[in-house]
Formats: sequence, structure tokens, C-alpha cells
Amino acid sequence: MTEAVVSHPHFISLEGGEGAGKTSALAAIRDLLQARGFEVVVTREPGGTPLAERIRELLLNAKDEPLAPETELLLMFASRAQHVREVVRPALQRGAFVLSDRFTDSSYAYQGDGRGLDKAWIEALERRAVGLKPGLTLLLDLDVREGRARTAGRDLWPDRIESEQDDFFERVREGFRRRAAAELQRFRVIDAAQSPAQVAAAVSAAVSQWLDAPK
Ligand code: TMP
Repeated sequence: MTEAVVSHPHFISLEGGEGAGKTSALAAIRDLLQARGFEVVVTREPGGTPLAERIRELLLNAKDEPLAPETELLLMFASRAQHVREVVRPALQRGAFVLSDRFTDSSYAYQGDGRGLDKAWIEALERRAVGLKPGLTLLLDLDVREGRARTAGRDLWPDRIESEQDDFFERVREGFRRRAAAELQRFRVIDAAQSPAQVAAAVSAAVSQWLDAPK
């Protein structure tokens, strides 16, 4: 049974609300790491393995019955437990960088702050089912209404979580910001109100600085 949550210097996650521009930021980080000669595994949560992607489908498109918040949390961690064992740990062990579009911080923000589930329960799941956290987490921080306006244009069929109300996303945003403030060593907060090119540049600068910092 894993009891400690250990950070790994080759593990980078990207977090943020809806419409914050994670996709182009991910591409910029991948390019930067590859240009430095590293193998880079780009992955995402929920998902990242065939089974975890099936869980993602259940999580985002469950239509048959309402998904209880507790079920949502456990499915997020079921997907993560699989992802960590099948993809993240093996890649880190062979020396690759892992770049994950979301990780456990999303569960604290969405299921903890958004849905109001007990943080101690989330911490216990993190310790026992995951045991690993990123060395660097980039939080793309964006005003909730601005994020909504951006996704409204591209999402004709919003998924189950995207269909939540603004007050849910305000709690999620505050949750992310509190986590960032509590772990200054690990987090870099990027102002995602900038253009995608500016966000990509800010993210790349943060990753370069972190790579060059003595560890
Ligand atoms: P994405 O749209 O960024 O791919 O993320 C999928 C959705 O899943 C997004 O609405 C955030 C949500 N999510 C959680 O609620 N908890 C989690 O632990 C993760 C990883 C994602």
C-alpha cells in the first residue's frame, strides 16, 4: 500500500478551467522538451490508457442516470490509478518526461471544491491509489466568464461537467488558486487571459526556468 505522495522532477502537469488554452500550451512544452533532447510522453486525465479512456467516456458522457459526486470522484481515481501504473511510472522510470493534461489537482478542485466532497478522502485516495505528484504544475488561470465565452464557440455539445453553472466553476477556480498559493515550489500560475501565443510563451519560459534551476 502506497502511503506517501512523492513528486518527480520529470513529471509536469497542466491545470486550469475550461477554455484556458491548455492544448497550445501543451504543444509548446512538448516542443521545448523535445528540442532539449528529452523523450516526452504527452498524456491526459481522465484517460491516458485504453481502460482509463473508457472511464473518461463514462465520466463525461454518462447520460443514462445522474452520476453521484462520490461515483465521479472514484471513477476519476480509478482512471488515475490505471494511468499511473500503465503510463506515468513506466515512462518516468525509463527517464522520459511525462506531460499530463490535468492530474490529481483537478480532483481537489472539481470534486473537492466544486462538488464539496471531503478533502481528507481525496488525500487518502491520492496516497493509496496514486502516490505520485508532478514536480511542476502550470496553472492556466482564467476568469470563469471569459473561459465560458471561449468554449461556447467551439463546443456544440458540452460534456456533463462543462454543463455546470458559473458558481461551480468559480469554486473550482478558487480551489486551484488556493492550492497554487499553498505549494509555491510546485505551481506556476499563468495568466490565461493573454493570447494563446503569449500563454504558450509564458508557459515555455516557466518550464525553461524550472529545468535550469538547481534541484
Ligand atoms: P478536459 O476537458 O480538460 O479534458 O477535462 C475533462 C473534464 O474532467 C474537465 O471538465 C475537468 C474534469 N476533471 C475532474 O472533474 N476531475 C479530475 O480529477 C480530472 C482529471 C478532470
